[in-house]
Amino acid sequence: MASGSVDENTHNTVLWRLLGPVTELSKKQCRLVYSALGFNSDVCLIFIKGEFFAMDARCAHAGGPICQGDIEEADGILQVFCPWHDYDFNIRTGKSQTGLQQEVYEVKIEEERVYVKHASPLSLLPFPQNPKS
Ligand code: FES
Repeated sequence: MASGSVDENTHNTVLWRLLGPVTELSKKQCRLVYSALGFNSDVCLIFIKGEFFAMDARCAHAGGPICQGDIEEADGILQVFCPWHDYDFNIRTGKSQTGLQQEVYEVKIEEERVYVKHASPLSLLPFPQNPKS
């Protein structure tokens, strides 16, 4: 759930993860969503042309911040361009013309709320660090 808390029982199980209301999440084209599994599992939620998409937030090439990329449509295909080396990724399939594959996730809307199918709890806020003793 989008509360920032971590439910240990739902780690590593692919479940529908509630992110929040459509009205709120549709206000930004790209939004970083935090994963309880950490930095490399964060998700980029994209809202464009009335539809939500979700893909890994770190580029499959060298970890660039996909959420800061430009989104363009060419030949009817929506693509995000990674800001680091400008590789293209189809936001629906995650495929790049370079041959790389960005992980994408299913998104659904239920009762005006956005869900992403993911293996870890997701949150719009960073998860608290594990306390060190
Ligand atoms: S890190 Fe994304 S294109 Fe290189």
